[in-house]
Amino acid sequence: MVSNDELMHKLAAGFVVETEQDMSEDYHRLLIQTLTITADTELISIFSILDALKYVPTLNRRLTELAIIQDELGHAHIAYRLLKHLGVDVDALIYERDASEFRNPYLMDLKLQNYAELLTLHALLDRAGYVLLGDIFHHTSYGPWKRALTKVDAEEGFHVRNGESGLRLLVKTDEGRAAVQAAVDWMFVMGLDFFGMADHLKKRSLQLDLHLKGETNDQMRQRWMKSTVRFLDSIQIRTPVHWDPEQDAYLYDFPYPCQWDEAERRWRFDQPIEWSQVLSRFKRHGPYRREYVQTLRQGRETYQKLLREGVA
Ligand SMILES: [Fe+2]
Ligand SMILES: [Fe+2]
Repeated sequence: MVSNDELMHKLAAGFVVETEQDMSEDYHRLLIQTLTITADTELISIFSILDALKYVPTLNRRLTELAIIQDELGHAHIAYRLLKHLGVDVDALIYERDASEFRNPYLMDLKLQNYAELLTLHALLDRAGYVLLGDIFHHTSYGPWKRALTKVDAEEGFHVRNGESGLRLLVKTDEGRAAVQAAVDWMFVMGLDFFGMADHLKKRSLQLDLHLKGETNDQMRQRWMKSTVRFLDSIQIRTPVHWDPEQDAYLYDFPYPCQWDEAERRWRFDQPIEWSQVLSRFKRHGPYRREYVQTLRQGRETYQKLLREGVA
């Protein structure tokens, strides 16, 4: 391995990292951290979609959701495979780690309650994934991941468009429009959370210095808002933010971050909190995490039993 300074010097000249020998210790550690969050997010995201299949009204749309689940599994596989190449015991990560140690965002540990929420998940949260992974795709200095993200980028774009086309149809009825507005009212803020702590609270990012990503959390959050609000405006759905031409940025119409009421499934706009409290909600994880991880492991046991019986 090399030192951070040595690596930064090479990266400034356009060097692409290919093997562990090319990395510094920090680079190796941060890459493993980012890949684990990505892999866990892609994997755990399938369970709330699977559960919400019962709300999907047509066979055509249901097949699309199944295709999305297959894509997400493929994305998880890419990230876990890269982790394996970096010396991580991936079987232990997936099948032995305690459910509380998965690194996916809080939203993935919830259950969706109707079709509008499933489509909003695609239009808003797959878009957040698209922005986050798009940043890595365009800026990462790690060659193997950059190459693999070509496929992921195209597929996440398809997930977003599927959400948008479904929402455009749904808002045509008063009942559908009300359900979409209710979904956006809580899921928009979940989207903001995806990008993590505000820049002014963070110390200088080694991930940026080591070219593991290209944009800061707030830059990506702004980029997500720009494209999300443009779409929601086009279907006349309200968002809790507005564009400020002087600051050349979207500003929040409520104190952000604020308290999430898990029982009521809504934000307490009258209860502002600190970012440290948001992070501790992430650490506590959501109500269905254990159930989802359990399902994953039961699936493996069932498959192994079938293999032993010679049926699979
Ligand atoms: Fe994905
Ligand atoms: Fe996706």
